[in-house]
Amino acid sequence: MTAIADRLHQLRLQLQKASYAYYVLDNPIMEDAVYDQLYRQLQDLEAVYPDLITPDSPTQRVGEKPAQEFPSVQHQIPLYSLENAFNLDELRQWQARWQRLAPDATAHYVCELKIDGSAIALTYEQGLLIRGVTRGDGQTGEDITPNIRTIRSIPLRLALDNPPPRLEIRGEVFLPLTEFSRLNREREINGDPPFANPRNAAAGTLRQLDARIVSQRRLQFFAYTLHCPDGEPSITHQWQALAYLSQSGFLVNPHTELCPDLQRVADYYADWQGARQRLEYLTDGVVVKINAYSLQASLGFTQKFPRWAIALKYPAEEAPTVVRAIEVNVGRTGAVTPLAIMEPVQLAGTTVQRATLHNQDRIRDLDIRVGDTVIIRKAGEIIPEVVRVMTELRPSGTTPFQMPQHCPACGSPLVRPVAEAVTRCINSSCPAILQGSIIHWASRNALDIQGLGEKVVMALLENQLIASIADLYTLQVDPLLSLDRFAQKSAEKLINAIQASQQQPWARVLFGLGIRHVGQVNAKLLAQQFPTVEQLSQAKVSALAGVYGIGAEIAQSVYDWFRNPANQHLISELQRLGFNLSQAESGESPPRHVHPLAGKTLVLTGTLPNLKRQQAQALIEQVGGKVTGSVSKKTDYVVAGEAAGSKLEKAEKLKIPLLSEAELLAMLGEY
Ligand code: IVH
Repeated sequence: MTAIADRLHQLRLQLQKASYAYYVLDNPIMEDAVYDQLYRQLQDLEAVYPDLITPDSPTQRVGEKPAQEFPSVQHQIPLYSLENAFNLDELRQWQARWQRLAPDATAHYVCELKIDGSAIALTYEQGLLIRGVTRGDGQTGEDITPNIRTIRSIPLRLALDNPPPRLEIRGEVFLPLTEFSRLNREREINGDPPFANPRNAAAGTLRQLDARIVSQRRLQFFAYTLHCPDGEPSITHQWQALAYLSQSGFLVNPHTELCPDLQRVADYYADWQGARQRLEYLTDGVVVKINAYSLQASLGFTQKFPRWAIALKYPAEEAPTVVRAIEVNVGRTGAVTPLAIMEPVQLAGTTVQRATLHNQDRIRDLDIRVGDTVIIRKAGEIIPEVVRVMTELRPSGTTPFQMPQHCPACGSPLVRPVAEAVTRCINSSCPAILQGSIIHWASRNALDIQGLGEKVVMALLENQLIASIADLYTLQVDPLLSLDRFAQKSAEKLINAIQASQQQPWARVLFGLGIRHVGQVNAKLLAQQFPTVEQLSQAKVSALAGVYGIGAEIAQSVYDWFRNPANQHLISELQRLGFNLSQAESGESPPRHVHPLAGKTLVLTGTLPNLKRQQAQALIEQVGGKVTGSVSKKTDYVVAGEAAGSKLEKAEKLKIPLLSEAELLAMLGEY
């Protein structure tokens, strides 16, 4: 037994080191494949000896079960916020203020970038991470430990030989910009509303009930504050604390500087004003902290802020303006997004007139009303949003905004599922949705109807040549000729392309229907498992959720879609038109295709842009392919994503053909 415990300890130690080298130092010491193997060994051993699982084991990063809710926790040391200075003058005034309180003191300042994320407090006991809590209101936060444990740059065990009995570490959780765009792209594909900015995305992710989702979002953490309640006498300065945090295994922002005077602080601030644009994450200023703890202690705190630190902000990309109207917009998925229409205002170099209000909850939280003066903000490329309503400037006689009960485009009742933020129109013949749906239906990965792009769809709808997807298939050449953009030849071409699309396989049609959460991949998974539309439309939620790769939310969405009479009508229309809504081959037994991936061995490596590993594997297996863990001469293809490591190198050495995700999907589509 001790031999096994030793082995487990060794494995954990090695994996921790590798993970630290990879995520914190950005300097891997182990090949991915080796890591994977060691990890699997650890998993296997722990499966046999569950009693020997320790909370700091790398296998314990991802919670198994979603939490029901987050317990609230009182912070033992409150999390203060910082006073803001908006220019160097205000910074000098701050220095003058603290110098009046400590006339004989001289100070060095630690400059840190102010990361635009979410502050959290981590508690370590005997070197083990025992709790992670959100800032909350500074006094009380939420215990989000399972989510915190998924963040790779937060050590589960401190890399210290003799850790103090108890340590509290604070820092900022943030979402790197590339992750933010990836996440929003993915949300768009799934028909979910995008996050307004990386800070909201990080904060929202931290409060996700399912730690597995948090794990996929690749949050990062910079540590910047060390509290050692029992005193760590050797640490007397912030500059030292940063080094100590780094030695303990944390990621500390590398762009910190110890400045001998305010002039150096001003230089740091000026240098980073431009340079921060090239960082991988958003920053909104510089945090200036007095270095010596002794001076910090003698200055103390005001009601809200420490007197020994200040945030020197960069000119905000924020501006005040007045709300003229609140409109709602209906998107392709039926999502109803409220928009503020405002007095035009200059913001970060452009004139802005509209800002998203996201959803009903956001409107309620803001209590935004027509006539209000609001602060709007734009961060990077992101659409402007309303940050704050200046209620003190509110004119009299305003009333709270009510989300409409009915769709502004079609008048049917709007629906807001419990536990969802988004209000939707679910009438599939709503003109706003219809336009988006037809464009989606014709798109390349769906029915692939060449020549039926956005402009043509709009022209067809405006001229009432079509009023549904089904109408496309009874469209004739002649009426098209009345539209400006068509001549005999181009009209014939379009009609032919539309007719030809009837031969598209069931999975593409299913994707084309635009059911929420049913992207290309899920459509393929579903079409395989439910080879006819009858089977799919009659499937119970439990049967749908039973498909490998299909989650409860997707299952419910499919189930609901088929319960809607307008959708049922569309399906029967398509059937009447002769669509083959099944996997089975049609006609007089044409030769059965053998799928090009049947019998082939594939290896997946790196992170694919859209598919999760499980999904990719499920798709490959469904067409008769096999997925293995290591590259050898017997491998037929290697599917390589971002940050592919040793497997990719080996594939190149053995000259094994490489596939991107797009190429894989294209091959999978060939049935
Ligand atoms: S120190 C008492 N350091 O800014 C010390 N805060 O406006 C308070 N922040 O709530 C925090 N980067 O979320 C500190 N390097 C940094 C920071 C930082 C970002 C955030 C933090 C805090 C807010 C205060």
